[in-house]
Amino acid sequence: MLLIRLLTGRSFRPLTRKDEVLMDKALLLLGDDLKAVEACFEENLCSEIDLINRIGAYLLAGGGKRIRPLLLLLSARIAGYAGSQHIVLASAVEFIHTATLLHDDVVDRATVRRGFPAANVVWGNQAAVLTGDYLLAKAFSLVIAAGNLPVLEVLGRTVTRLAEGEMRHLVGSSDLDLSQEDYLTIADGKTASLFAAACRCGALLGKGGPGGDALEEFGFRLGRAFQLVDDVLDYVAMETEFGKTRGRDLAEGKMTLPLIHALRNGTDQDRRRIAAVLGQSALSEADFTGVLRILEKTGSIAYCLEQARILCCQATEGLRVFADGPEKEALLDLAVHVVSRSR
Ligand code: IPE
Ligand code: IPE
Ligand code: MG
Ligand code: MG
Ligand code: MG
Repeated sequence: MLLIRLLTGRSFRPLTRKDEVLMDKALLLLGDDLKAVEACFEENLCSEIDLINRIGAYLLAGGGKRIRPLLLLLSARIAGYAGSQHIVLASAVEFIHTATLLHDDVVDRATVRRGFPAANVVWGNQAAVLTGDYLLAKAFSLVIAAGNLPVLEVLGRTVTRLAEGEMRHLVGSSDLDLSQEDYLTIADGKTASLFAAACRCGALLGKGGPGGDALEEFGFRLGRAFQLVDDVLDYVAMETEFGKTRGRDLAEGKMTLPLIHALRNGTDQDRRRIAAVLGQSALSEADFTGVLRILEKTGSIAYCLEQARILCCQATEGLRVFADGPEKEALLDLAVHVVSRSR
């Protein structure tokens, strides 16, 4: 089933089989809420500047997985929320995510996003950056209009951390001495923080209590695992499923855990071979394959996937505080999806 097509009647790139299973269950549980979130996106892409609306709509229509809104909606339900603010807040979180993708693709000089030419390729860097600014401002306007100060505080802190995470990654480009700890600080800032915030904001809508901490911790571990898997997929994914170009991290000199692990565990010759191609924007297929072989030989891909699996297990264990139910089951499914995903 093509979830996004169902929701909006538009034509999108098909989801993979694994996505379908995840999304089918979520759709059954949250169907009307997800439809309302999609409608809220459309309603709020209403600038007088048509180019902003077109670029925003292009990206939102590209078939993203909507994991962050899902986390917020499920967390709100687990926390016992029965109002309607969750829709606008879930939309705001996806607006923030979409803005970061627009900016990130400029920073990473990416050319493909969600299986389509990236917005910076279609409209240029300037228009992509400014649309990202607009979406960020819109996200905060939505939260302010909802009058939810605690959520505003969480999202303000989160977007600050996110920007710092992206900047840390940029500053650490081609730094062969970047440690695993440094890498985790980057991943936590740029990705885990928004996953955690989505869960925390859902929880804030509900009854409060210790469940909020458990949900935030779940989102944080899931987000860290999610970035780890993304960084593995950047080396090993099938591009048609991944929806992004393989090898961007290596070509941009982006230090991720697969590479950091290989640098620590390879020979001096491996280190020299990696250093010779790292950050080369015109990376040849042979150079990429050479590095991939080193990652495989040093067990770096397997190591990263194992770290992601451990994180997802820990995330799952943390949900023990909640009674069994369909929302909890959907969160557990999400954790499985994060480690088994191909896009
Ligand atoms: C991409 O996030 C950015 C990362 C944190 C790696 P997603 O993989 O959730 O992007 P979409 O929204 O599904 O395209
Ligand atoms: C960036 O990580 C995550 C964001 C906060 C946007 P990546 O640069 O690895 O994300 P992708 O691979 O381009 O989606
Ligand atoms: Mg990127
Ligand atoms: Mg990036
Ligand atoms: Mg990536």
